Amino acid sequence: MKNLFDVSGKIAVVSGGSSGIGFMMAQGLLENGAKVYITARKIGRLEEAQKALSEFGDCVAIPSDLSTLDGIEGFVAELSKHETRLDILINNAGAVWAAPLDSFPEEGWDKVMDINIKGLFFMTQKCLPLLKAAGTPENRARVINIASINGLRNSGMPTYSYTASKSAVVHLTTHLATDLVGDNILVNAIAPGYFPSKMTKSITENEAMTKYALTKIPAGRMGTPEDIAGTALYLASRASAFTFGQTIAIDGGQISTA
Ligand SMILES: NC(=O)c1ccc[n+]([C@@H]2O[C@H](COP(=O)([O-])OP(=O)(O)OC[C@H]3O[C@@H](n4cnc5c(N)ncnc54)[C@H](OP(=O)(O)O)[C@@H]3O)[C@@H](O)[C@H]2O)c1
Repeated sequence: MKNLFDVSGKIAVVSGGSSGIGFMMAQGLLENGAKVYITARKIGRLEEAQKALSEFGDCVAIPSDLSTLDGIEGFVAELSKHETRLDILINNAGAVWAAPLDSFPEEGWDKVMDINIKGLFFMTQKCLPLLKAAGTPENRARVINIASINGLRNSGMPTYSYTASKSAVVHLTTHLATDLVGDNILVNAIAPGYFPSKMTKSITENEAMTKYALTKIPAGRMGTPEDIAGTALYLASRASAFTFGQTIAIDGGQISTA
């Protein structure tokens, strides 16, 4: 059982690795010896993140917009110039939109669906040749989808497309897990609760809202980089070889009390 959580020498992609949860997971993989490709749209922030992450290991940045098929194909073509296999794909890039039900705009539906679920599906599809090249029956390649606890229960927030996209991630994870196990690719998901990030800054930068959010979390705090990286390392390593199509909530107990 020695080195059960080892990811050293593995090649990983973390979409949305320039910020928040993606950055945290990229750091965790790098500190444990994986080579990590990060990707996002905004080049300045992506390059800053690559520089910061390079202190922990071999990190490469490739800009992309993963909400379009063109963007995904461009990313995978660039990745394929450098690598002939991909051990770990973390589909993390995501967006949110909040608006009242009666005025929720089409733009807020399409933007969120295009990155959170369409992008995740086609990114996985286009990475299949590289993932198949990495997986063996003894050590399968890994796809880790980032869902949300808002895809597991009603958050009560007017984030309709986000809720729908994240429940879709949960169900698509079981479907892909079933389809891909024969190709030696293991698919699981993580459903984070509250983690400080760009996406949650409207909460973390408002004292009253933070206080209220904390009343909903039995652990009495938000998630930390170690909390999310620990689960990503578990799902990326031999430790999770028998875990299949699952969505693991990492939320300090929030949904168990909802
Ligand atoms: N933070 C939380 O509490 C929480 C809770 C549950 C689930 N999540 C999920 O965790 C994931 C990461 O969220 P976060 O909180 O870390 O948010 P974040 O700080 O806003 O990071 C989102 C990342 O996704 C990238 N991204 C967005 N649209 C993209 C596109 N079209 N193409 C490529 N990259 C794109 C962003 O970079 P660019 O903008 O430069 O493209 C950024 O790197 C999301 O899937 C989110 O739904 C977060």
